Amino acid sequence: MEIMKAIERYTDHAIELRREIHRSPELSGNEHDTTKLIRRELEQYGIQVRESGLETGLIADINGKKPGKGRMIAVRADIDALPVEEKTGEEFASCVPGVSHACGHDMHTAALLLAARVLKEMEDDFCGTVRLMFQPAEEKGDGARAMIAHGALENPRPDAVLGIHTWPDTPAGMIGVKPGPSHASSDTITILVRGKGGHGAHPYRCVDPIMASAYLLTQLQTLVSRELPMTESAVLTFGTIHGGTAANVIPDEVKLQGTLRCLNADWREKLLASVRRVSEECCLAMRAEAEVTVKEGMPPLVNDTEMIEKLAASAEKVLGPDHVHRLQTASPGSDDFAFYLEQVPGILFRMGTGNDDPATHIGLHNGGNRFDERGIPTGAAVMAQYILDYLSE
Ligand code: NI
Repeated sequence: MEIMKAIERYTDHAIELRREIHRSPELSGNEHDTTKLIRRELEQYGIQVRESGLETGLIADINGKKPGKGRMIAVRADIDALPVEEKTGEEFASCVPGVSHACGHDMHTAALLLAARVLKEMEDDFCGTVRLMFQPAEEKGDGARAMIAHGALENPRPDAVLGIHTWPDTPAGMIGVKPGPSHASSDTITILVRGKGGHGAHPYRCVDPIMASAYLLTQLQTLVSRELPMTESAVLTFGTIHGGTAANVIPDEVKLQGTLRCLNADWREKLLASVRRVSEECCLAMRAEAEVTVKEGMPPLVNDTEMIEKLAASAEKVLGPDHVHRLQTASPGSDDFAFYLEQVPGILFRMGTGNDDPATHIGLHNGGNRFDERGIPTGAAVMAQYILDYLSE
């Protein structure tokens, strides 16, 4: 409980920081003031920021002073906000119209600053290194890759990586853990269906891309039910379909755009191949042509099962028993933390932010969702305890 005392000493300040960040949210890639605030705080705690060349976001190491050959663990907090109007009515609500911390990344930032402050004070008690990764642009999906490109996983390479995310379904004061698949992959699919336009009264002289698209959409929806085992899950949604200009004209082409979510890297690959096959062959049967483009998004986020169990043990050590919420299902949402996990084993756990106020359960990415700030000391304490346990292993 030594850690909890240190955490409690600085909790009020961490909550003030969260509110300061919350009032001035910044969109992905524009987190200049947030980065300045983080730098200011780290320097006050005596933590030196590494010159990484990142425009926003930053990297800093805390080196343990205890003699011995220590390991390195990296810990990430994402720092960006969303283009969502805030409707929480909080006194510290966003001052920027149309922008808010509706995903709670301000909570992550405050929690990691709090954990860092306590770990820095305890530097004599551990050997090894804690790498702090304050990551920009998670919401755009390219922040983790930018961090990696700027050396976040080098000099030296971390042995493990730890991440945290707010979770409205878990009560504040608890953490949520999900061993194995935790978040889905997310790829954007564009299908251009090419036909041959002409008079709506003479379809035999044309190749109708609208009919081909209609058939194609229903065929594609058989992939999840017919090509995936019942023990796996995936979602394929087409959110846009555009084509045509008049009721009596067959257009030249139709464009469809959709998203594929999977919990497993192999099935992601197989289903993407199936989308291509079905699109091409189905259109061919109707004399049309399909051009499929996939913009690869985030990979599935799969937690290391052994590390999750050890984190749960660390959490019970610092929070007491019955403070670990075991989540039964993965989230169909994505997190670019998965890019770190492609290179280093690790885990992402959830910081509970729910309470009796129904507004804390509205859900992430909604401008009305409130976050219980007790999640900050809880998340920080679990991060600090787990990191110390990991480094002393
Ligand atoms: Ni988020």
